[in-house]
Amino acid sequence: MKKLMATAVLGLAVTVSGAMAADGGALFKSKGCGACHQANVKTVGPSLKEIAQAYKGKEGELIKFLKGEAKPIVDPAKFGIMKPQLNATKNMSDEELKAMAEFMLNH
Ligand code: HEC
Repeated sequence: MKKLMATAVLGLAVTVSGAMAADGGALFKSKGCGACHQANVKTVGPSLKEIAQAYKGKEGELIKFLKGEAKPIVDPAKFGIMKPQLNATKNMSDEELKAMAEFMLNH
């Protein structure tokens, strides 16, 4: 009986963390990305709309960029400001990166 309880609790924990990891918008906020990226207006960085346009149909490329494996295509001249931010994303799990990429592409 005790073992059964433990399994149930573990199962719940996995489900909860899975649901959280899939929330790209929350991740985007918690990593501080919103400080430079607004939904529709260009501020320090390009707007999410601009990023979504550049990466339309290229989710894989966007994930590569966040892993530090692909060159910038939106505003390469300002990549110096974005580059250090990749330290926050390149060690995130594939699942988290996919969720965040989807969040950005949905603008
Ligand atoms: C200090 C300001 C700043 C923060 C914080 C920031 N960015 Fe950026 N970001 C920029 C600037 C400036 C650019 C434009 C340069 C470029 O295109 O790489 C940019 C560009 C991008 C691009 C377009 C890349 C391309 O192909 O050109 C993506 C995607 C992006 N940021 C995602 C993020 C994510 C995700 C976070 C949070 C982890 C984040 N940014 C945090 C300033 C910032």
